[in-house]
Amino acid sequence: MELSRTQVAIVGAGPAGLALAHLLDRCGVDSVVLEARSRHHVEHRVRAGVLEHPTVRLLCDTGVGERLQREGLEHGGISLRFDRADHRIDFAALTGKGITVYGQQEVVKDLIAARLAAGGEILFGVDDVRVREIDTDAPEVAFTDGDGAERVLRAAVVAGCDGFHGVCRPTIPPGALRVFERDYPFAWLGILAKAAPAQEEVTYAHGDRGFALASMRSPEVTRLYLQVDPDESLEAWPDDRIWEELNARLAVDGGSALNEGPIVERGITAMRSFVVEPMRHGRLFLAGDAAHIVPATGAKGMNLAVADVAVLAEALERFFATGRTDLLDAYSDRCLRRVWRAEHFSWWMTSMLHLAPGADPFERRLQLSQLRYVASSPAAATSLAENYVGLPYGS
Ligand code: APR
Ligand code: PHB
Repeated sequence: MELSRTQVAIVGAGPAGLALAHLLDRCGVDSVVLEARSRHHVEHRVRAGVLEHPTVRLLCDTGVGERLQREGLEHGGISLRFDRADHRIDFAALTGKGITVYGQQEVVKDLIAARLAAGGEILFGVDDVRVREIDTDAPEVAFTDGDGAERVLRAAVVAGCDGFHGVCRPTIPPGALRVFERDYPFAWLGILAKAAPAQEEVTYAHGDRGFALASMRSPEVTRLYLQVDPDESLEAWPDDRIWEELNARLAVDGGSALNEGPIVERGITAMRSFVVEPMRHGRLFLAGDAAHIVPATGAKGMNLAVADVAVLAEALERFFATGRTDLLDAYSDRCLRRVWRAEHFSWWMTSMLHLAPGADPFERRLQLSQLRYVASSPAAATSLAENYVGLPYGS
């Protein structure tokens, strides 16, 4: 059995784990990242693609924003589509800020490249990860590496960045965590298609047939989503049905049909809200999806993951430089303020835009009234806009 040491053992090479390793490197803290999947898998996993303003700033300010600035699509607003018309929310005018459309897997590629270029260690394809001794100041992670060798990594701190289905959160005694959750009675069927986006900005459509979302990845690639039943299977959705339903839900008066093209990726994602408190137990710190999930309406998932590790990196820098634990002790509370703001915003956007099965006419009228209010009142639009572009860290 091979034994090695580092300062921070990071489980998971998603945006949370990779951004943490990168930020720690910049303040001279050593880490090793352990990832169950292959590098190819994590670099090609299609997820959301909207970076809020503070995320873009952080990536650019820490030297991993070069390709993002070159290839990312900067948007000054979004469109809410209802009553067969577009209602633009002008982020730039309302907040002075915007968002950048850039796929999560592109952020992951950039972070992996930066980490490896800096000589960092990311072990892909590890198996049977076990986190131990988190109640002591010498926690360790046992695992089987990609060559099948048994290894143990000792660290001062373990960062659980292994997503919602990871192994870190379950190592915390159940009584030590409080869980808050909500399942929604619908899911999203998402596709990536080789077709030019038909609209210039991210478009959220509400209507009688259910919710649809039109986004993009580049001038040649469209990302589209349809609200479907939570237990829906992909087999029920041949290409023709997907395009027909997207066209029906995204129709506007005087508008033209979507540009259709080969569908290169498709998947169904559950819609869920989930938070555990606190985001820490002993020397194990949870970050990103390991600690919280938001429904995808509003695209907060990756942004929250990056915000968590910005707070964690600062706390760890102080801890390793001075031995002080005050920022580590404040980690969970500091993160949870932002987490709950995003939980509320994502729940609110989800509730306003989707068609709940069995929704009665009263609820439908309330949704429409809320949409019209947001689209017409600068005060209401500003509230949506400042949440969407991302509130400043620490607010
Ligand atoms: N051992 C090692 N790695 C693991 C284990 C394990 N037992 N379990 C899961 N992982 C890895 C997953 O393979 C994945 O690469 O942890 C990583 C977690 O990454 P993400 O799921 O991307 O989570 P996070 O980094 O918190 O990023 C949040 O991702 O899920 C999306 O929409 C969400 O955008 C949000 C973002
Ligand atoms: C995406 O482009 O994938 C996207 C955009 C907005 C969302 C969710 C996902 O709210």
